[in-house]
Amino acid sequence: MTQTASVAWVTGGTGGIGSAICRELAKEGYLVVAGYHNPDKAKAWLEGQRADGYENIVLSGTNLIDYEDCEAGVREIREKYGPVSVLVNCAGITRDTTLKKMSPEQWREVIDTNLNSVFNTCRCVIEDMLGEGYGRIVNISSINGRKGQFGQANYAAAKAGMHGLTMSLALETATKGITVNTLSPGYIATDMIMKIPEKIRESIRETIPVKRYGTPEEVARAVAFLAHRDSGYITGANLDINGGQFMG
Ligand code: CAA
Repeated sequence: MTQTASVAWVTGGTGGIGSAICRELAKEGYLVVAGYHNPDKAKAWLEGQRADGYENIVLSGTNLIDYEDCEAGVREIREKYGPVSVLVNCAGITRDTTLKKMSPEQWREVIDTNLNSVFNTCRCVIEDMLGEGYGRIVNISSINGRKGQFGQANYAAAKAGMHGLTMSLALETATKGITVNTLSPGYIATDMIMKIPEKIRESIRETIPVKRYGTPEEVARAVAFLAHRDSGYITGANLDINGGQFMG
């Protein structure tokens, strides 16, 4: 089935994995709205996409942790481009440290950005999706939401919580043409991974059965699959994409 030129909103679209998702969905013919946090970085990023021939990617600077800003952002997308039919929640941050050293702020920042934002975006697009009788939501979680990780109590809690939201919303929308799924990448070669001290990073890589980090493009392919119109029977699922590092 051919895809119509519908609107895909990718939060964290200018990030490592987000960029690959935007490009993949743009190749599939969507009008891609890339969410960003840093305006200067986003402007340069968009110029790079244009230089690479991607004309159907635009930017949205919605503050995802502010519900009203999110509502306004979605309204603007709807007015300019049409209702969002694919939402990919890819915005995320880390504030890694052991729980005994973690400040309440480090906890809150990660829960706000990685989990509360997902409520905000889903809540702000769901009525349009219900109205259209069609929608695809893909929540980018993490291997560490599945198995926990030393130094990531905040991040793992947010990412595990994301899948609870996925399953519940999937049940609520199952008869309405909407699918909601989680995708849990393992260690993907992005700046986020490069922040891990090299010795620790190397020891983690050793535990990956395929013995390498994943690529953003490998994650993006899986997003495009879940977002496809023909994937309507997959809902409430979690898809692991982690080189065999965790099989649960
Ligand atoms: N397992 C067991 N012990 C560990 C450990 C581990 N993974 N990492 C550190 N330790 C040890 C340290 O060696 C240290 O031991 P000693 O006290 O005997 O010296 C002790 O635990 C405490 O270490 P620190 O005081 O240095 O702890 P810290 O609060 O500064 O935090 C850390 C250390 C920043 C968490 C560091 O361990 C780290 O960066 N770990 C990697 C975390 C990680 O995997 N993050 C993923 C980021 S990418 C991402 O999140 C994307 C995704 O979805 C996969």
